[in-house]
Amino acid sequence: MVVPIVKYPDLILRRKALPVEKLSEDIFKLVDNMVETMLKTDGVGLAANQVGSLHRVFVLNTTPHEDTPTLIPVINPEIITHEGQLIEDEGCLSLPELYIKIARPEKIRIKSKNLYNENFVLDASGLLARAVQHEIDHLNGILIIDYVAEEEREKVKEYLNGLIHAS
Ligand code: CO
Repeated sequence: MVVPIVKYPDLILRRKALPVEKLSEDIFKLVDNMVETMLKTDGVGLAANQVGSLHRVFVLNTTPHEDTPTLIPVINPEIITHEGQLIEDEGCLSLPELYIKIARPEKIRIKSKNLYNENFVLDASGLLARAVQHEIDHLNGILIIDYVAEEEREKVKEYLNGLIHAS
């Protein structure tokens, strides 16, 4: 089921998601809904907070530009190593139309659980590495507006003021 995406300044985006202790129907359903919602919005990743849940779960589409999406549910992720640095524009479905330049490690390795309760390791670089770090940030209550550099501060302030006046 496609579900609404929670938008800033909803406070659930600022809460820390809690580790999944046990896989259950609820988690399977959550992952299904997140995958459908991500595909519908052409997102590369989506975190549980963004659909109103506080489980440490996010989903990834590792082939966003191909006809067949490759979907990876990530449960209780942890970053093991990171390498290099890249500055790129980054957006977020919870802050539509805002893009901020963010410096992040270029390559990362994470470990996590899959839907069969097995551990797996994922190596990511480029866009995918950025998406993984962005989604882990969501699970920790961190948003792209927390990374704003001096030269973009005015732009972000105007954007956020616009949100307040629109609501
Ligand atoms: Co986001």
